[in-house]
Amino acid sequence: MTTISRWVCILIVLVLGVIVILGLVFGLKKNKGTTNKGTTRNLKEIVVERCLMFIKEVDTSDNKCDQIWSTFKHAFIGKNPCNVKMGDYDQFIDTVHQYISRNKTLFWSKTQQIAHDFTKATKCFMTLEDTLVGYMMDGLTWCGQNSSMEFDYTYCPGYKECENNPVSSFWKRASMNFAESAQGRVAVMLNGSMSQPFSTSSIFGSIEVNHFNSSIISHVNIISVISSTYSGPCNSMSIRNLTSILKNKRINSTCKAITVSEIQNCTSKHNPQSCDCVINGEL
Ligand SMILES: *[C@@H]1O[C@H](CO)[C@@H](O)[C@H](O)[C@H]1NC(C)=O
Ligand SMILES: *[C@@H]1O[C@H](CO)[C@@H](O)[C@H](O)[C@H]1NC(C)=O
Ligand SMILES: *[C@@H]1O[C@H](CO)[C@@H](O)[C@H](O)[C@H]1NC(C)=O
Ligand SMILES: *[C@@H]1O[C@H](CO)[C@@H](O)[C@H](O)[C@H]1NC(C)=O
Ligand SMILES: *[C@@H]1O[C@H](CO)[C@@H](O)[C@H](O)[C@H]1NC(C)=O
Ligand SMILES: *[C@@H]1O[C@H](CO)[C@@H](O)[C@H](O)[C@H]1NC(C)=O
Ligand SMILES: *[C@@H]1O[C@H](CO)[C@@H](O)[C@H](O)[C@H]1NC(C)=O
Repeated sequence: MTTISRWVCILIVLVLGVIVILGLVFGLKKNKGTTNKGTTRNLKEIVVERCLMFIKEVDTSDNKCDQIWSTFKHAFIGKNPCNVKMGDYDQFIDTVHQYISRNKTLFWSKTQQIAHDFTKATKCFMTLEDTLVGYMMDGLTWCGQNSSMEFDYTYCPGYKECENNPVSSFWKRASMNFAESAQGRVAVMLNGSMSQPFSTSSIFGSIEVNHFNSSIISHVNIISVISSTYSGPCNSMSIRNLTSILKNKRINSTCKAITVSEIQNCTSKHNPQSCDCVINGEL
């Protein structure tokens, strides 16, 4: 072997080694997020406890947590976990009573963390996860089994295996209900750092926008969350798409780009003006 081909060999081995290591690291990382776990242990206790806590803190006292739990369970128990549809949660959604005040609804897409930090700090708005329905199930996994009254604690299918799994269908149904009940001025936080801040394949783009009721929504305040002031994502094709979808539904909208640090600045001061500084400021 010549020296050159030896070096080439060493180089190839090194490159392959790096690829394998990177593959392992990313593969494991990815797996961690997408590995399908079974039903969350103590699901009933967690859900009922969250329900009671929510009712104690927010006044929705005509809710009965036992009844909510049983209609929830009824939606998917004993069913093939790849055949639970949005409509299976209709009765559950009807059982939960919650009124969201006008001008208080906040939608989000690819801005989960900052949107929730914002609603937690300011209490001016509510995301789905700040309502009873979303609060009870946030972060949990559940599924049943064909012709058995047991939960499956070992494995629940994810969105990639089948669209009509109990968790995805739940969030779609809950999002639909949340969007239908939005009134007055509503807001949505989109991720202005992405090439498509508004995507028609997101839950917001495929379900929520389609269920906006133009007779009760007066205005949509689009907030494009960006990392720096340089980008001008309100003019992006995808946000113009959203504006035109809303226009077709006869809903007016405005878009404002706002930086992550402006939002953090605003949520770190726990004062009443913080309600205005992100969302109502420039209407
Ligand atoms: C909602 O916002 C509109 C416009 O700013 C205002 O006129 C109305 O009073 C608000 N409603 C509530 C319940 O805050
Ligand atoms: C926008 O999306 C990018 C890429 O997914 C993410 O790193 C960033 O945190 C998101 N920005 C916000 C404000 O959520
Ligand atoms: C589960 O039920 C479906 C019909 O809903 C059926 O096609 C399937 O074969 C069943 N699977 C098992 C393991 O029983
Ligand atoms: C929209 O809201 C109005 C007024 O509350 C209501 O009568 C109507 O049924 C709603 N439309 C839909 C599609 O939910
Ligand atoms: C805009 O919407 C059209 C269909 O409504 C879609 O084909 C197109 O990909 C969208 N463009 C962007 C940038 O989102
Ligand atoms: C929407 O905007 C148009 C033009 O700015 C205005 O004339 C109209 O009253 C607005 N509609 C609503 C429902 O606010
Ligand atoms: C944060 O708030 C202070 C006082 O309201 C203001 O002077 C400062 O410019 C703000 N910083 C950002 C990044 O918006």
